[in-house]
Amino acid sequence: MKGIRHLIDISDLTTEEIDGILAVAEDIMRDRAKYAHACEGKKIATLFFEPSTRTRLSFEAAMMELGGKALGFASASNSSTTKGESVMDTIRTVSAYADIIAMRHPLEGAALAASRRSIVPVINAGDGGHCHPTQTLADLLTIKDRHGRLDHLTIGICGDLKYGRTVHSLINALTRYEGNRFVMISPPELTIPNYVRYEIMEPRGAVWSHCTDIEDCIADLDVLYMTRIQRERFQDLDEYERLKDCYVLNAEKMKAAPEHMSVLHPLPRVKEINVDVDDDPRACYFKQVEYGKFMRMALILRFLSDAEKGYCPEPNPRKIYTAADGFVCHNPKCVTAVETDLPQQFSLRDQAHNIYRCEYCETRFGHYK
Ligand code: CP
Repeated sequence: MKGIRHLIDISDLTTEEIDGILAVAEDIMRDRAKYAHACEGKKIATLFFEPSTRTRLSFEAAMMELGGKALGFASASNSSTTKGESVMDTIRTVSAYADIIAMRHPLEGAALAASRRSIVPVINAGDGGHCHPTQTLADLLTIKDRHGRLDHLTIGICGDLKYGRTVHSLINALTRYEGNRFVMISPPELTIPNYVRYEIMEPRGAVWSHCTDIEDCIADLDVLYMTRIQRERFQDLDEYERLKDCYVLNAEKMKAAPEHMSVLHPLPRVKEINVDVDDDPRACYFKQVEYGKFMRMALILRFLSDAEKGYCPEPNPRKIYTAADGFVCHNPKCVTAVETDLPQQFSLRDQAHNIYRCEYCETRFGHYK
């Protein structure tokens, strides 16, 4: 029997599937009545072990607008986690109550771990600093609606490119479309991780440059994707204090931006976009929130349909290594550091550089040259 299909990482979707999900989301926006009963009798469980406003509520609103129901919790403190229950046992339990699960967890790899125990589809709603694929789909829908295409765009990505999980997934998605150019706007301490550069951008021939100041590149951009400096991911809080206000987009800086440019932000924002930008017609971040709900409606339809059909793509065959082969993941934020019954697993990720990775948190072992 084939397994159940889950969405852990944006790489779990082909470009054709992404385009298909966006097309359904656009159809939902055009004709909401057509979909109002599509999930009657179905339930989504939203398991949020980490705070959220948009992702949790938009998943719940999405299921309700499809005629289904939502259950779940908004904080680990409201679950049996407080009594020491593992993520694996929680997910196995909840998958007996719901048809699909959206889960956010502070540990990296928690969604993959959960998916290995669930009997219904698991959608990763954010696992630590690792991945946030549904935010990326919302970003893509926003860009597509605003610019009419996902290719031949110049995209500035500004702020915390190191810890911003949405940034890594967005680059993974947008590098698949022809002719896109990227301007990475960050301080040297917060540049994109090497694996994004060497495993995603370089193999796809992505064209990119680096810039330290927004003012130096804003006039050239079609899209400016702002991000929050991720306080919760910093090991050194002094470094966070030094960098936290390094970028502030305001109405004055927007004067140099093209008329057609759009400003996106996954939200929540702290100070990186001044409120004086909010009424600018180029500010799309609240529209992006609305698109997130329509895209999640399309995603729920797709994953429930795949589950009903028993459709699950074959995983890429790869040799799995274990601790017996001499590998250990030391990432304290990896799900295996806390869920110690979960055996650590590793695979060869980048043959050219001899880089291995933890299957859960994707921590790399080895050095890019
Ligand atoms: N963009 C996003 O994930 O927002 P929340 O943390 O509010 O869900």
